[in-house]
Amino acid sequence: MPIGEEPLAYNSLWQLRNDTWSSLEESTTQLALAGAQQRPVERLAERVTRLLDILGSVERFWAFPGAQTFREVQRLFAADEYDRLAAAVGRANRALVTESYRGGQAWDLRADDEAYDRDTRPVKQPRTDRPYFEVLVVEDLTQEQESALREELHRWRRPDDEFIYEIVVVPSFDDALLAARLNFRLQACVVRRRFTHRSRHDLSSIAQFAYSGGSADLMERSPDERAQVLARSLARIRPELDLYLMTEISVEDLAGRLSHHFRRIFHTREGSLELHLSILDGVAARYRAPFFSALKSYSNKPTGVFHALPISHGKSIVNSHWIRDMLDFYGLNIFLAETSATCGGLDSLLEPTGPLREAQQLAAKTFGSRQTYFVTNGTSTANKIVVQALVQPGDIVPVDRNCHQSHHYGLMLAGAMVTYLDAYPLNEYSMYGAVPLIEIKRQLLALRRAGKLDRVKMLLLTNCTFDGIVYDVGRVMEECLAIKPDLVFLWDEAWFAFARFHPVYRPRTAMRAARTLAERLRLPEYRERYDSFVEEVGAIDAADDEVLLERRLTPDPARARVRVYATQSTHKTLTSLRQGSMIHVFDQDFSQKVEETFHEAYMTHTSTSPNYQILASLDLGRRQAALEGFELVVKQIESAMRLRDAVNNHPLLSRYMRCLTTADLIPAEYRPTGIDQPLRAGLANWVKAWDTDEFVLDPSRITIYIGATGIDGDAFKRSHLMDRYGVQINKTSRNTVLFMTTIGTTRSSVAYLIEVLVAIARDLDARVADMNPAERATHERAVLRLTAPSAPLPDFSGFHPSFADGRGRPTPEGDIRRAFYLAYNDSYCEYLTQEEVEQRVENGEQVVSTTYVTPYPPGYPVLVPGQVFSPQILAFMRSLDTPEIHGYRADLGYRVYVDKALEIAATSCPAGPAGNRE
Ligand SMILES: Cc1ncc(COP(=O)(O)O)c(C=O)c1O
Repeated sequence: MPIGEEPLAYNSLWQLRNDTWSSLEESTTQLALAGAQQRPVERLAERVTRLLDILGSVERFWAFPGAQTFREVQRLFAADEYDRLAAAVGRANRALVTESYRGGQAWDLRADDEAYDRDTRPVKQPRTDRPYFEVLVVEDLTQEQESALREELHRWRRPDDEFIYEIVVVPSFDDALLAARLNFRLQACVVRRRFTHRSRHDLSSIAQFAYSGGSADLMERSPDERAQVLARSLARIRPELDLYLMTEISVEDLAGRLSHHFRRIFHTREGSLELHLSILDGVAARYRAPFFSALKSYSNKPTGVFHALPISHGKSIVNSHWIRDMLDFYGLNIFLAETSATCGGLDSLLEPTGPLREAQQLAAKTFGSRQTYFVTNGTSTANKIVVQALVQPGDIVPVDRNCHQSHHYGLMLAGAMVTYLDAYPLNEYSMYGAVPLIEIKRQLLALRRAGKLDRVKMLLLTNCTFDGIVYDVGRVMEECLAIKPDLVFLWDEAWFAFARFHPVYRPRTAMRAARTLAERLRLPEYRERYDSFVEEVGAIDAADDEVLLERRLTPDPARARVRVYATQSTHKTLTSLRQGSMIHVFDQDFSQKVEETFHEAYMTHTSTSPNYQILASLDLGRRQAALEGFELVVKQIESAMRLRDAVNNHPLLSRYMRCLTTADLIPAEYRPTGIDQPLRAGLANWVKAWDTDEFVLDPSRITIYIGATGIDGDAFKRSHLMDRYGVQINKTSRNTVLFMTTIGTTRSSVAYLIEVLVAIARDLDARVADMNPAERATHERAVLRLTAPSAPLPDFSGFHPSFADGRGRPTPEGDIRRAFYLAYNDSYCEYLTQEEVEQRVENGEQVVSTTYVTPYPPGYPVLVPGQVFSPQILAFMRSLDTPEIHGYRADLGYRVYVDKALEIAATSCPAGPAGNRE
């Protein structure tokens, strides 16, 4: 059904706008044809009217084709000049589709008119190689004033400018916020003094995408205060935008008082040249990629290498007779850029003082951290660095048991006493969710009761989880700091680097939540909130556990320290070569307490020959995210929603597959808003759910339930998606497969995936139809097995007492390092089959694993070193039919400790822990 005839069912205004322009081109072409053939035009004209209505509410937020062009289109339509209308719309749409308007030449509707072509078309073609952006100007201007401003700014353009831009003028606060949300080409905003609060336009047709907010009393404030409120609101939506204030009053007085959000303040009468230069300069600052530039210029210099790395400058390849294809395949540049030099314009990752330091500082700004460190060996290493930097042997670390293996190994190496936290299970899909806050508080309070709170160092959680469950990061930190004011947080954001670049996601990232919390703790209102909290529950240190579990806790602003670390696999969700990761730090005690140990930890895990191509790609990935992250993430979400729509609405696919929703993956008790599908419920509801609910689901991840196919997740991934169609996915469970969209997902790749899924479903349908009774019974049994409840996912059973803390009252933490290294002595270990372990457990014996046992899928350790087998674990393992179980040998069974080993462990004093410290 063409657009304009159906109710709006769009996931983003960007998609709606593009499709509407395409439909308009089609309809106006038909209209012109009908007019020429003197056929009735009423129905077509009605459709064009509807399409113009849709565009009428949104075009004013973009410079191209923009309000002026749009007015001209409306005029041609009203004047029944259908031929010219069709030609103009066709040109506009082509310019949009091909993005040719990015050349920045004022787009002219007459550009293809023959007469115009002959007489006026400029002979010289404009440059089209410069990046293009748009600048929002907020002021209530007449059309003439707007044109004059545009022309004035055009006058300052020079042929060798690095970038080119156009302006979009909006008259009100509401329109400005809408433009910031909708137009991802914006890179800067100029706030002038005269703007209104509410939009003059009827926003009802775009209500599902519009959510402006703003305070009711805005117009009662002074113009400067209004500008400040607008700046704050814009920064919340798009922190990367460069904001400029143009005012008529004394700028010298204002300069010191104004919000830090403004990059510069200008006096209106001083003209626009400085503004124009500043706009270009602001974008140039983000465009800079210091390490990439340094590497590029280094690679152009001739060098004589009397050091390692014969491949540098391609020297060992260009004259080779046998590996020339290496050069053909990779091209020369990559080898020109291979060097082991750390000077001559380059830098050392271990002690950066030049372009690498600058690249990391730019990344810190982009990702909102205080310090950012590049890591060239993935988040697996980033996690170990942070854990080693902060955790001493004997420190207690509560951690999600389903966290990535790098944490288990990192904590083991650090000698931490680990307290495993259980995520809520999703037994129907054999998946885990995330760790509920009440569970975290319960563990912290239990440690407090046991007198061990001073040894609790860090809380370690994964945000978001592989399956897309996202924490309320700010709330978790706030409540934990109420119990333990100096607790350090490590948020594993391996899958969440992109989240920084979307306004709805951003508050749920570690760096934004840390900054917000640090700012809030300084506010007098926060102090008051804390005082009334204490009035109600009494001193928190003396309050009853049950009271504290039931309530939302408020930390003491005088004691709480915001100490937050995030590790991100840039390569997983943004542009970077494989293994490119970053560590972001927002730790108020970093320079005083951590910097030295962090450096040591960084040295421990970082190669002295880090890969420069990875580092350069991190620098460029940061540039891209700073300049087009918002656009790319909007499109990423859009792709995900298209995929969901296609699966759920396709008659054949929906018989076999179903996209799981927020309601499927997050139990209602963690969603007080009760919004089952936040993104589908319009922007305001999306924001509300993400502001309020304990857990939300990242919509860019699509878990498809495939139980009805009778094919298990692993077979679906390997035999169907990969082997037959070359579609790569990673995560599966017994009856689900996870598809992820990223900033690299194209509409064509989504279309291909849908084709593949349809082909699989069609094939299955045909096979089922042809089955004989015996085959059909087998198929039905397979379906039943995948759709019936499986053995419940096992909780963490506990460490054997030999590896427990031994100090203070017993609590669940265990010395995983001792449990791990004890197994280096072969005589302490034996292998037992599943049946033998079951028998012993039934006899009441404690059987203890020497190692991690991790079935894939689901990919989480069911047992860790020192952990006792439970009937629940054994039942779960028995129910598994996954081919891959790490830590379990099909020929021998489980590796477990013999009794003698456990006796020795119990009597030997814990090697590292607190002994060293206390
Ligand atoms: C939650 C989590 N953390 C860390 C990692 C490790 O990241 P990398 O592949 O960058 O080493 C992964 C990898 O899948 C992960 O899922």
